[in-house]
Amino acid sequence: MTINILISDPLSEDGIYPLRQEKELDLNIVSNTGLSPAELKGIIKDFDVLLVRSQTKVTREIIEAADNLKLIGRAGVGVDNIDLEAATEKGIIVVNAPDGNTNSAAEHTTAMIMALARHIPHAHMSLQEGRWDRKKFVGVELKNKTLGVVGFGRIGQEVAHRAKGNRMNVIAYDPFLTAEKAEKAGVAYGSVEDVAKVADFITVHTPLLDSTRHMINEDIFKIMKDDVRIINCARGGIIDEDALYAAIESGKVAGAALDVMEEEPFVGHKLLDLPQVIATPHLGASTIEAQESVAVDVSNDILSYFKFGSVLNPVNMPSVPKDMVAKVEPFFDLGYKIGNLVSHLTDEAINEINIYYSGDLANFDVRPLTNNTVKGILTRNLGNHVNNVNARYLAERNDIKVNEHKSTRAKAFLNSITVELVTDHTTHKIKGTLLAGLGARIVQVNDYVVDIVPDGHILMIRHTDKPGAIGLVGTLLADQNINIATMQVGRTSEGGDAIMVLSVDYAVENVDFLKQQKNIFDVKAINL
Ligand code: NAD
Ligand code: MLT
Repeated sequence: MTINILISDPLSEDGIYPLRQEKELDLNIVSNTGLSPAELKGIIKDFDVLLVRSQTKVTREIIEAADNLKLIGRAGVGVDNIDLEAATEKGIIVVNAPDGNTNSAAEHTTAMIMALARHIPHAHMSLQEGRWDRKKFVGVELKNKTLGVVGFGRIGQEVAHRAKGNRMNVIAYDPFLTAEKAEKAGVAYGSVEDVAKVADFITVHTPLLDSTRHMINEDIFKIMKDDVRIINCARGGIIDEDALYAAIESGKVAGAALDVMEEEPFVGHKLLDLPQVIATPHLGASTIEAQESVAVDVSNDILSYFKFGSVLNPVNMPSVPKDMVAKVEPFFDLGYKIGNLVSHLTDEAINEINIYYSGDLANFDVRPLTNNTVKGILTRNLGNHVNNVNARYLAERNDIKVNEHKSTRAKAFLNSITVELVTDHTTHKIKGTLLAGLGARIVQVNDYVVDIVPDGHILMIRHTDKPGAIGLVGTLLADQNINIATMQVGRTSEGGDAIMVLSVDYAVENVDFLKQQKNIFDVKAINL
C-alpha cells in the first residue's frame, strides 16, 4: 500500500531524510507549500499523512474533507493551528515534536531580553541611518533584576536557567509548579499576580488556551512595577495587545519584545510603530538545528506509526513510554477480541464499560490497551471508523463511562482481562487470558467457564440445558453444510440456562434456522 504524505509548510530537507530514505514502506512524498485553504481542502482526500509547521491551518473543514487522513504531523510544539477535536472525532492521530525546538526558543527569548535591555535593533538602525547616538540608547543591566516567567514548562525552565547565568533572580508561575520543583530549579514561585508585582522583565511561555488567552491584561499591567519590560516568544494572544499598547503609551511598560502576535503575519501592527517595541517574525524555532530536529522527530513518528502502530509524541492519545507499550502490546489483540465478543452479548444501550486487568498486567500503563478494547466494543455498532484515537472520545460522546480496574493479584491465570458491560437491565462480562505457548483464550463468558480460541467465525448460542440440545445444533449446522471446528458448552445449573460456543469454518450469515428452535433463546454469529 502506498502511503501518501503531503508536506504543506516549508520543512528542513535534512529533517525529512528519514522519510526520503525509507525502504520498508512505500512512501509517496508530495511537497506543496503555500496552498490556500480551498486548495488544501480540494486535495487532502488523496493523502494519508499531512505534515505541517504553523502556517497551515488544519481546520475542521479541512479535516472533514480528509477522508483518508490517518496522521497529522506538526513539526513544532504548538498545535493551536490544528483542530484537535475534529481530528480526534475523525480518528486522526496528531503528533508533534515537543522537544526539538526548546533550546532554539529559549535562546531566542534570551536574545530578545538582551536586545530589549540594550536597544540593539534601534541602535543598529540609527547607525545605519548615519547617526552616532550614544546618549539615546542607554540601556539597563540584567544583573540583580528579577525575571518573571509565566509558564514554567520546557522553554520557561530553559529561559530561567539562562537568566540565572546572567545573575538575574527568577520568579515563576505555573499551575504545575510545586515548592520542591521551584527549589530544585533555584527559582521563587507565586501566582501570576505575585510575578507581576516584583518582576522587572516578564516573559510568557504558556500555550495559548482559553485559560491563558489575555492572561496578561489591563488588570495585570496595573499591578506591575513601573518600567517593566515584557517578552512574548510563546504565542500571540497570551498578552492583550491593546492593553500592552496602552501600558507602553502611559509609560508603565518600558519596552516589549515580541516574536508572536495574535494575527500573523503582523506586518503593519500598531505596536510596531512604538519605539519601545522590538519584534521578530515568529523566529523562535527558526534555527537550522531546531528545524532539522523537529522534522526528524515527526518523520520518525510517521514511520513508527505505519510500522508498529505506536508513536512517541501523540497529542490526542495517551503518551506511554515505548517499553511500557511493549509490555502491553501482546494483549492488544486479546483486548480487542474480548471487547468485540462481549458487545454481542447485549443489544441494549451500554451505560458503563468496566475493564479489569489482573496479574502482572496491572503493573503497566494500560491506557493504549483500554483504547483498543473499547474500540473492539464500539466497532460492533459504530463500524470501522472507530480506532485507538477516537474510541474513548466516541464512548464519551455516547454517554458510556469507561473504567479501568487493576489488581496485581493473579488468581487462576498469570494475567487476565475481564470486560464487563453494564446496561440499564443487565451486566455481561467476558474474561480472557494469554496462555504461555498456547496463545489467547476466552476463559469465562458471564458465569460460564469456557475455553475458546478467540479466532475466526464464532457462534454463541444461549439455550436451555436439555438432553439433545448439542445434537440438535450439530444436525442443524450440518444441514446448512456448516462444519464445526470446536465446541464448548457451559451451564449454570442442570436444566438451567446454558451457552454453546462453537467455532465454525465459514461465516454464518443468517442464524434464523437456529433461533427458531424452542430451547434456543439467543444466537450470535461473530467474525473475529
Ligand atoms: P510546555 O508544554 O513544556 O510548557 C508550557 C507550560 O505552560 C506548562 O508547564 C503548563 O503547565 C504551563 N501553563 C499552562 N497554563 C498555564 C497558565 N494558565 N498559567 C501559567 N502556566 C500555564 O511548552 P513549551 O515547549 O515550553 O512551549 C511553550 C510555548 O512556546 C508554547 O506556546 C509553544 O507553542 C511556544 N513556542 C513558540 C516558539 C516560537 O517559535 N516562538 C517555539 C517553540 C515553542
Ligand atoms: C512551535 O510552537 O513549535 C513554534 O511556534 C515553532 C514554529 O513552528 O514555528
